[in-house]
Amino acid sequence: MNSLGTQYKALVIGSNGAIGSAFLTAFKNDLNCSLVASLSRTTVPDFSLESETSISDSANFLALNAPFHVIVDATGALIIDGHGPEKQLARLDPIQLSRAFQINTIGPALLIKHFVPLLDSANRAIYAKLSARVGSISDNKKGGWYGYRSSKAALNMMLQTAAIECNRSNPNLVFAALQPGTVASKLSAKFVSPEHCLPAVEAVQGLMSALDGLVAKSGAYFIDYRGQPIDW
Ligand SMILES: NC(=O)c1ccc[n+]([C@@H]2O[C@H](COP(=O)([O-])OP(=O)(O)OC[C@H]3O[C@@H](n4cnc5c(N)ncnc54)[C@H](OP(=O)(O)O)[C@@H]3O)[C@@H](O)[C@H]2O)c1
Repeated sequence: MNSLGTQYKALVIGSNGAIGSAFLTAFKNDLNCSLVASLSRTTVPDFSLESETSISDSANFLALNAPFHVIVDATGALIIDGHGPEKQLARLDPIQLSRAFQINTIGPALLIKHFVPLLDSANRAIYAKLSARVGSISDNKKGGWYGYRSSKAALNMMLQTAAIECNRSNPNLVFAALQPGTVASKLSAKFVSPEHCLPAVEAVQGLMSALDGLVAKSGAYFIDYRGQPIDW
């Protein structure tokens, strides 16, 4: 990335997923990146989106490497506890719905709460969160996938609201909700075959160059891997 200077520090959360690991590799290969830290369910320390204590403990640990200039949260889930996305109202289940919100909205919001303070407050910095185009209300022409769609739409609102609040104290901060395209991963495997998917490396290359061009503002961006804006 060029917009963060020649000695920027990056953190990837969810670094063992398909998209998270591609971000990790891209930062490692970027000569401008002086340090890349990672956090996942398999790092030491590890964390879970379902435990705020694990999130705050890992933030305290990673504060040793702060300030970061870019944080990417690449966590998320579509099939949770063995339950896939609901196609009909009749399939709605309160526990499964609340699990979708726990993983895709509440956990990521707690990551914002504990990790945004680790971003550089004096220079350009980016908080990027993998969202999904299906979280766009205006783009929803097909229906279905109630829990995943709704939890991503709520995530987008968390990002927009956090962006407005954080811009007051740090006008250099960029917040972005990212649509990576359809990428082969554990998350997408049951729904699309790999030959119809974008390689994670390409998706991440596109997302990094899109992030590079974003100007800090009071509000979040919702963009895809080609840098195209998506209506909320
Ligand atoms: N792939 C696509 O086509 C696509 C399209 C649109 C949006 N996205 C979004 O992109 C993001 C990354 O997806 P992906 O395709 O890379 O999927 P993935 O390979 O399954 O990665 C998902 C990541 O989330 C982590 N995670 C899930 N539940 C967690 C929990 N309770 N606590 C901590 N970490 C947890 C996983 O950790 P473990 O590896 O330990 O399970 C993994 O690192 C997601 O937000 C997804 O919604 C993907």
